[in-house]
Amino acid sequence: MSISKAVTSKITSPENIEERLQIQRLLGATKIVVPSAGSDVVKGLTQTPKSLPPCYFYDDRGSELFEQICDLPEYYLTRTETTILQQYAGEIAKITGACELVELGSGSSSKTRILLDAYQQLGYPLHYLPIDVSTGILESSAKQLLSDYPLLQVHALAGTYELALAQLLPTQLPSRMICFIGSSLGNLTAGECDVFFSQITEALQVGEYFLLGIDLRKPKQILEPAYNDNQGVTAAFNLNMLEHLNQRFEGNFDTTQFEHWAFYNESEYQIEMHLRSLRSQIVELHALNLKINFALGETILTEISRKFDFNTIKQQLTAQGLLPIHVWTDPNQWFGLLLTQLQA
Ligand code: AVJ
Repeated sequence: MSISKAVTSKITSPENIEERLQIQRLLGATKIVVPSAGSDVVKGLTQTPKSLPPCYFYDDRGSELFEQICDLPEYYLTRTETTILQQYAGEIAKITGACELVELGSGSSSKTRILLDAYQQLGYPLHYLPIDVSTGILESSAKQLLSDYPLLQVHALAGTYELALAQLLPTQLPSRMICFIGSSLGNLTAGECDVFFSQITEALQVGEYFLLGIDLRKPKQILEPAYNDNQGVTAAFNLNMLEHLNQRFEGNFDTTQFEHWAFYNESEYQIEMHLRSLRSQIVELHALNLKINFALGETILTEISRKFDFNTIKQQLTAQGLLPIHVWTDPNQWFGLLLTQLQA
């Protein structure tokens, strides 16, 4: 199904899902979607201190555990952002007018529905471009959306943000909005954010929009439980990264010999998640030809989750040509949603 055909086909019923769906595997995506070469794993595990890229959380089991995290009582992020979206999606849609929605790391697309509803209510055409490395997730959530929104067109892109952003075709609607919600920006260091923002600006025309969801700074009494839940789901999520590496690189990590450790680093304003070795041990990843020594108590940094303040992030966005035109938050100011527009 080509894009032009999808657009011109007469849309009458929810049965024509195939006609309204296009899934595009990006050039070079095979390297990312199928097991990667693992050079990032070798690099991280041979450094001191050791670290692993957070993308290795998200195999099928990891994605499932993340969905469970989003529903935990301690994990206020998803719930709070959803409330903000529910309250202000109509305002967002009015400001932007008819526009194509591009979503980075779309996952199950559940928060996207709130935006789609708002655009639908204003009678705007619905064009949705979800971007995710998981083709499986893209396909299943796109089909669900298409059956729920009879007028929706979906053009899913399987690949990394970088590849997808660099290959977006000109939008067929009056404008475009790139959405990056859920505070996934928090996984990037400040330097990585700048590179990322410049990829966003390259993918937009002057006057087009970038919608960003960020977790805000707050007392560690609230932050730390969100990453140390009572049911141990976050611990399972963290440890699952080792199972994922075992699967992918023929490893022999014993997850009973590591423990979850997460805390708020107050001087860096970031949650840090680590895995701590419970004994001195040697682990092998056969497929990578790698033997790793762990001392008792040695840690692997698996994720940073930065917490933002409006002024700093606004300055950083403005410096990149992304002008903040509106911010929304919840009554506690726990989470923020920023709408920015590319300047001339
Ligand atoms: C998906 C990166 C926003 O940082 O809160 C949840 C991932 N890690 N619990 C976050 C996560 C542990 C999440 N982000």
